[in-house]
Amino acid sequence: MALAELYADHLREQMRRADVALERAGFDHLLIPSGTERYGFLDDQTYPFRPNPHFLSWLPLTQHPGCWIAYTPGQRPRLAYYQPEDYWHVPPAAPSGFWVEHFDLQVIRSPEEAAQFLPAAARAAIIGEDNAAIAGYVPNNPEAALAYLHYHRARKTPYELEQLRAASRRGARGHLAAESAFRAGASEHEIHLAFCAAAGHTDHGLPYANIVALNEHGAILHYHHTPAPRPAESRSFLIDAGGSEAGYGSDITRTHARDPGLFADLIGQMDELQQGLVAEVRAGRDYRELHLQCHHRLGGILQQSGIVNMSAEAQVERGVTSVFFPHGLGHFLGLQVHDVGGFQRDDRGGEIPKPAGHPYLRLTRNLEPGHVVTIEPGLYFIPMLLAKLRNSADAAQVSWALIDTLLPFGGIRIEDDVHVTEGAPENLSRDAFRALAA
Ligand code: GLY
Ligand code: MN
Ligand code: MN
Repeated sequence: MALAELYADHLREQMRRADVALERAGFDHLLIPSGTERYGFLDDQTYPFRPNPHFLSWLPLTQHPGCWIAYTPGQRPRLAYYQPEDYWHVPPAAPSGFWVEHFDLQVIRSPEEAAQFLPAAARAAIIGEDNAAIAGYVPNNPEAALAYLHYHRARKTPYELEQLRAASRRGARGHLAAESAFRAGASEHEIHLAFCAAAGHTDHGLPYANIVALNEHGAILHYHHTPAPRPAESRSFLIDAGGSEAGYGSDITRTHARDPGLFADLIGQMDELQQGLVAEVRAGRDYRELHLQCHHRLGGILQQSGIVNMSAEAQVERGVTSVFFPHGLGHFLGLQVHDVGGFQRDDRGGEIPKPAGHPYLRLTRNLEPGHVVTIEPGLYFIPMLLAKLRNSADAAQVSWALIDTLLPFGGIRIEDDVHVTEGAPENLSRDAFRALAA
């Protein structure tokens, strides 16, 4: 089906969800501002604009501050489309694209003009940031509406899945260029630029700041490079970077070794572990259980490679695997890289707790068809955490000689974006790489 038709269905689903959310919250209208540009303190420079994700869930307009969507159940949605008369910047183009025919449109020349076009605020749920307020229209973000919308946003529509596939292809193109740059001895900054050029993004268009980490930098979970010379040698390379399409992001990590050896072998084993977990992704699975399963499988790798002389069970029980894998297995993905609703008990709110001892897990729900999650196991050599292990009762069970040989390689993370179905999962990331290889 063409994207235009998929979008029409997607919009119908947004309206259906809005109908229920409004009823739950006791309002008659839904108003969604796209957001406002923010200025630096005492400055005339703006920060990069980040649109309201609720706005993006209705419209593929990513660089359009000052717009307002107005929806009243049973009526066509309306859009106040902010198009300033401005010769300093490139103003948003005249409305065009597959979405236009579905909205009653009004071009406005200032965000305040939207007020003339909006229904009375008294009966309106207004979802947005405080600073998007205009006279008489202040965001109230009713909790019951947000709970409903956030819970159901986890289930992607076919239109959203198409956008996520496109974002995955962009990300995969970037990854291939980045790997070539690594193998040619490029600096982190040069690799970053190679990624952006191949993905077709500027820094600002990326779904999140690239993590481009050579050698021991791979052990810094959120490493953001600054331009620096090429290193004397590039032993290993961890890149966590994605592409963006109509506001939807991909979130992909790969780790590469320059030479064969223990680190390269561990990458191979982590890749197997990761694919084993992806194969377990399907409707009905408890994501917490997958996360814990990952720890057990990782304990097996640590034992078998001689890094830790303990059974996998004992390692998990005593928190040893968490020294090497101190983050969660993954999260929901969509309009936000860490998409909302990952802990929600149901569409009225509540929270499903994280397993004890796993504070950084971002997803505790049971998987449903249409969910898109990341699966991103890791194995890192992080000096700060290893120092604690070295001072613990378990220190004697660790091969510090092996750790010393692995520290200069940083760490391993392998991350794919996976669409949950009733049957075999769709691996958006691997499909994108495969399509490029074909
Ligand atoms: N790129 C951030 C994450 O993997 O969650
Ligand atoms: Mn991720
Ligand atoms: Mn990532």
